[in-house]
Amino acid sequence: MSMSVSSNHFVNLAAPGIQALQPYLPGKPVAELEREYGITDAVKLASNENPYGPSPLALNAAREVLDDLSRYPEGSGWLLTGRLAEIHGLDREQVTLGNGSNDVLDIIARVFLTPAHEAVFSQYAFAVYPIAVQAAGATACIAPAHDGSRGPAYGHDLDAMSELVGPDTRLVFIANPNNPTGTWLESDELEAFISNLPAHVMVVVDEAYFEYVDKPSCPDASNWLQRFPNLIVTRTFSKAYGLAGLRIGYALSDPQVAGLLNRVRHPFNVNAVAQVAALAALDDSEHLQHSVRRNHEGLAQLVAGFRKLGLPYIESAGNFVAVETGRGMERYEALLQQGIIVRPVANYGMPDHLRVTVGRADENARLLAALEKVLT
Ligand SMILES: Cc1ncc(COP(=O)(O)O)c(C=O)c1O
Repeated sequence: MSMSVSSNHFVNLAAPGIQALQPYLPGKPVAELEREYGITDAVKLASNENPYGPSPLALNAAREVLDDLSRYPEGSGWLLTGRLAEIHGLDREQVTLGNGSNDVLDIIARVFLTPAHEAVFSQYAFAVYPIAVQAAGATACIAPAHDGSRGPAYGHDLDAMSELVGPDTRLVFIANPNNPTGTWLESDELEAFISNLPAHVMVVVDEAYFEYVDKPSCPDASNWLQRFPNLIVTRTFSKAYGLAGLRIGYALSDPQVAGLLNRVRHPFNVNAVAQVAALAALDDSEHLQHSVRRNHEGLAQLVAGFRKLGLPYIESAGNFVAVETGRGMERYEALLQQGIIVRPVANYGMPDHLRVTVGRADENARLLAALEKVLT
């Protein structure tokens, strides 16, 4: 083919939603920072990963399956979907596996959204929602978050979200708790919100951080699936289960909805190693509880340090906390120089905050010491 290609020739050929799409910004990898700054002991507190790693049972199961890698994985994830159904008191037909819960969120958007449709989510909500909605060519309707007068500042304002639901709305995304704010919704308010949604609206409750939550009023939305057939709950093995690198998550829904998700899902979207590791991880409640307990201690350590430094932060129910340092991008760069990777959240409209993942005690201490240094 001989033709001259202008600088945006292929962009103009892309589907309308994709043309203006900004890609997801992942946390900076440790190896990249170490290469750039010539250091060896960088600490990454940037991607809400479990600093204690996965369960040893999961690692053993993963190793055992390596001899069989010439085989395709179990396409339907028979063993894992069965076990997840048992744990949640549901039928296997209600479980859809994904290559991370991110995959599931994208599948949901592709199933329910077209350029004629709208999806509602909150200001400061997880960055994958606008990407999934825009990639489907649909319109994102973004509700202002609480300003602190009627609910926790930066948190989802369900009344404001309700107001945006109209005849063209097909999806509502709710992160509970939300990333990057760490804010969470109470059981009563979320239940009332879902029960008031019209029947043509699907609601996704993204519970990626569910295992970390220690707030008694924060619900397990999977308990409501029987009552609300338009509800989809998503979970992941990337956070408290420490399996982010294997990419595995899942959706719980009405069987008819799961049937639709399965039409779009790639046949082998969850690899064989991830399936067996996740299955084994579910049997190690000790490791999970240890990770969760340590996270609460680490979160307490971080917020005590922020208080000492006089830095406001947003109360968090997850394994991360958004702290207001002012001039987030500058602070982020200065922390990189100290060998610490956190996440700037200017792309979320929070230019004065940094999101810090809860690390091990020594990592948290290093972050606090580095923060003190860069602030003075
Ligand atoms: C709120 C929320 N949902 C979903 C995800 C996606 O995680 P994964 O695709 O690793 O399951 C994340 C990851 O950071 C998240 O913060």
